[in-house]
Amino acid sequence: MREVIKKTWGWDEAWQLTDFDRRLAAYVVSIIEAEHRAAGSLWLEWKPDSLYIHEVQVLPEFQGKGLGTEVVQHVIKQGAHRRLPVTLSVVPANPRAKRLYERLGFEVTGVEPPFIRMRHSASVKGAV
Ligand SMILES: CC(C)(COP(=O)(O)OP(=O)(O)OC[C@H]1O[C@@H](n2cnc3c(N)ncnc32)[C@H](O)[C@@H]1OP(=O)(O)O)[C@@H](O)C(=O)NCCC(=O)NCCS
Repeated sequence: MREVIKKTWGWDEAWQLTDFDRRLAAYVVSIIEAEHRAAGSLWLEWKPDSLYIHEVQVLPEFQGKGLGTEVVQHVIKQGAHRRLPVTLSVVPANPRAKRLYERLGFEVTGVEPPFIRMRHSASVKGAV
């Protein structure tokens, strides 16, 4: 995420470390495993009205193999079980992530710079 963060806010190592600890305590964090190795992480928050993806990260050597797609699809199914839409935010400096979300059916619901808010509502409509 470093390049995306640098382009959007600039990089402050001390702030990043503190914020990492805050997020680790606040969200449901899962390790994505592939080929018996840790390949990435998924940071979720169950909000009353949506399942919010705070972060999904796949290590560079595992990218482009469909892992990110599979993980986000899994989250959409988790939301569907509880009839909750899946929401997330993405920044313009991360077009690859935005493309992935759009391909999976997420729609832009608002822009609050630097964030583009997105939502996947098929689960609420019973389409998943
Ligand atoms: C965004 C991110 C999570 C996507 O994960 P990923 O595992 O690479 O995603 P996928 O492999 O499912 O799809 C990514 C691309 O690979 C392509 N792809 C999917 N399966 C593929 C396969 N079997 N072979 C080759 N390419 C494939 C997809 O078409 C997609 O192409 P695109 O970039 O042109 O849209 C990953 O790039 C990442 O961790 N980035 C850094 C962190 C980040 O920005 N996270 C999001 C914000 S928190």
